[in-house]
Amino acid sequence: MCGIVGYIGHRNAVDVILKGLKRLEYRGYDSAGVAISNGKLTIQKCKGKVSQLEKLIKANYPHGTMGIGHTRWATHGEPNDVNAHPHQAGDYKFAIVHNGIIENYDALKKELIQKGHFFEGETDTEVLAHLIQEVKKVGLTDFETAVQMALNQVDGTYGLAILNLDEPDKLIVARKGSPLLLGIGDNEVFVASDASPIIEYTKKVVYLDDDEMAIITPDGYQVKTISNIELSKEVHELEMNIEQIEKGGFPHFMLKEIHEQAQTISDCMRGRLMVDENRIVLGGISDVLDRIVNAKRLVIAACGTSWHAGMVGEYMFEHMAKLPVEVEYASEFRYRDPLIGPDDVLLVISQSGETADTLAALREAKAKGALVIGICNVVGSTIARETDAGVYTHAGPEIGVASTKAFTAQVTVLAMMAILLGQKRGTLTKECSRDIIKELNTIPAKVAQILEKLDDVDTISRLFAYASNFLYLGRSYNFPVALEGALKLKEISYIHAEGYPAAEMKHGPIALIDEHMPVVVIAVNDHTNEKMISNIEEVRARKGRLIAITNEDNHDVRRLAEFSITVPQTHDSLSPLLTVIPLQLLSYQIAVYRKCNVDQPRNLAKSVTVE
Ligand code: G6P
Repeated sequence: MCGIVGYIGHRNAVDVILKGLKRLEYRGYDSAGVAISNGKLTIQKCKGKVSQLEKLIKANYPHGTMGIGHTRWATHGEPNDVNAHPHQAGDYKFAIVHNGIIENYDALKKELIQKGHFFEGETDTEVLAHLIQEVKKVGLTDFETAVQMALNQVDGTYGLAILNLDEPDKLIVARKGSPLLLGIGDNEVFVASDASPIIEYTKKVVYLDDDEMAIITPDGYQVKTISNIELSKEVHELEMNIEQIEKGGFPHFMLKEIHEQAQTISDCMRGRLMVDENRIVLGGISDVLDRIVNAKRLVIAACGTSWHAGMVGEYMFEHMAKLPVEVEYASEFRYRDPLIGPDDVLLVISQSGETADTLAALREAKAKGALVIGICNVVGSTIARETDAGVYTHAGPEIGVASTKAFTAQVTVLAMMAILLGQKRGTLTKECSRDIIKELNTIPAKVAQILEKLDDVDTISRLFAYASNFLYLGRSYNFPVALEGALKLKEISYIHAEGYPAAEMKHGPIALIDEHMPVVVIAVNDHTNEKMISNIEEVRARKGRLIAITNEDNHDVRRLAEFSITVPQTHDSLSPLLTVIPLQLLSYQIAVYRKCNVDQPRNLAKSVTVE
């Protein structure tokens, strides 16, 4: 979703900002713009990619050491040049970029129109710009106070940065609900909506929290609340490095991230999986472990791929720890007046740690007294900071919009949590936990094995690249994998795909099956295999084109399916960590054959910061 980059210091601001906006492209956007201050304000913006903005800027290159930039993911008003940020108000003396949504923009806009304001576009951000101007004019205040007063009048969310021509050495930024951080350099300060644009300049960051603003000059910054109470903020050290956010020789980030999975799963288990001692150590939740062990119920809330990981977790927790689990779409959980209280634990799962609905679910459950724990990838993200305790996935930055390595790392953490709870609750015998722990330890090598032979995936992708629909079927632990496989395909190739519990196929999707329908079945050697074989027969009888994800020695499935991709044998509960890999590759390869923009699929955003 929308991205912000700001700079004040000694470098050429436009270069820093354009490079930064490119680093933020992965978040998903449809227009881009910059404002540079150098005695005058130069604003350039357009619909389309940052490369288009770059061309525009080349023709009229603004030199200056202070500026703000933005990538916009349209919410209010179509993506066009006028609605692109930065925005200004009547006297054109300042420029603002904004992430988030001003929910009361309509009422504010009507009032402002009555007071004589004229609007060029349809965005809520332009309303905020006019509001600041109006407040300044009526209140006869300084600019900073006008910003504070305006922000106190808006409902909704914002991460914003403002340049004011009258104060040429000052950048004002503020946050409520939309992430924003400051990168602290030597006589320079960077602003960004995530760390990727600033990592090549500095590792020192200050995370703004909700209702906070910062007044930034080239040699420092001051953080205060929007009610003007000064704050002293901790400076954090970023753990990521520049290589992690570059493609490293791969044509796409998604392919790079798929190939990283043997390593990321291993990183995720490092120091946590003590194979010889039959022990799991999850330091991030150790202080609250007793409360989790004694919980009456575990509720998992997440969105998208993280929700699928949560579903795998449900099977794991119920099987290994005999703990009742409910998995909720974070958005539905929030708006349902959920029954959750001090006896329950809410587990939120989020790669970015910024997903607005997941964050809202977390706050709702916390307010109702539940213990809230998290599984996050982005260190220092809002969800990571607001949960009572949690476990990082340590998968490194995930840039491809279609989540891959984050999913397998989330499932790895869930497996470790389930084993740990099973041990503590006495529901998993020593032998069983030893078997699963040993097996979990072999997963990275098995993932590497899958990634070594990609010919089958390539053949199948080429054959079905122009199919109009796909059906994905799985049972038990592999039902969520069927959902995830379908999601991956539709996200990046725009082929309609549905994931279904294999048995449920008879209640609808079977009507769609004919000789044109590719049906991906996940049918490994597990306790559901016989039933899966019956479902495969049902698909065959209707001439569906069967593609099986199975094991080398599963001769029945391999004989029945038209195409097979094999994965190594593992424990039932861990099979999603292997079966999902060919499905990620299948969707990737199909998207490449269809010439789709794999890393930045249309309309999608990496970090969904609006509800
Ligand atoms: C977006 C992304 C997905 C992701 C989902 C949840 O839709 O495109 O890849 O699974 O958000 O994001 P989170 O960061 O909370 O895991």
